[in-house]
Amino acid sequence: MTAKEPAARRMPAPARETVDAEAILREVFGAGTRRFDIIRRHGEQVAARALNIAAGLKPASIDESFLYAAAMLHDIGIVKTATPQLDCHGDQPYIRHGIIGRQILEAHGLPRHALVCERHVGVGITTADIRHSKLPLPLRDMRPVTIEEELICYADKFFSKTNGQVEKPKSAPEVAHHLKTYGRRQAETFIRWAARFEGLILNHNDDWYEGRHNQNKRRV
Ligand SMILES: [Fe+2]
Repeated sequence: MTAKEPAARRMPAPARETVDAEAILREVFGAGTRRFDIIRRHGEQVAARALNIAAGLKPASIDESFLYAAAMLHDIGIVKTATPQLDCHGDQPYIRHGIIGRQILEAHGLPRHALVCERHVGVGITTADIRHSKLPLPLRDMRPVTIEEELICYADKFFSKTNGQVEKPKSAPEVAHHLKTYGRRQAETFIRWAARFEGLILNHNDDWYEGRHNQNKRRV
């Protein structure tokens, strides 16, 4: 701004949704605890991969601020589960961490972030899954709907923390192979996302998967 320009003409910065995800994690998991550190670092890994994919997608209609905060918060419900390897000593089964996370974030006034929690488990859980496997979940569709929900669900599958530590990412074929143990729908959903989000073509038959990058694939 030059000296001749009146201050009143300066444009205000655009309003942005600002959610201090790390502060919420600190409040729920406890500052300085090992479990806070694991969940924060896992959230950073998922956020980085999701944001990296988002940067390459066309058209770019993705809310990156929301994507970052929701990725950081997606596993917050683990705090109330019986997951001792993560220093979480609640009484809830691990599979309920999505719906517990939804409850926690709704109580924080974050209903959109809350849905990411509910819809990120596996590749999303269907009512048929809940019925067929008698899962301890309310009977509703918990598959990701929005692009941000899909990206976080997808990115999360590469990063395990079940051994109580943050590990290096799995390869896409490793993820697909692992998901196949849960069912064909799970593996095929991931394979579609890998092609759509990262141009990764995973060929599969009944016993193996092989990944390669398709540089010419047009992203959507
Ligand atoms: Fe996660």
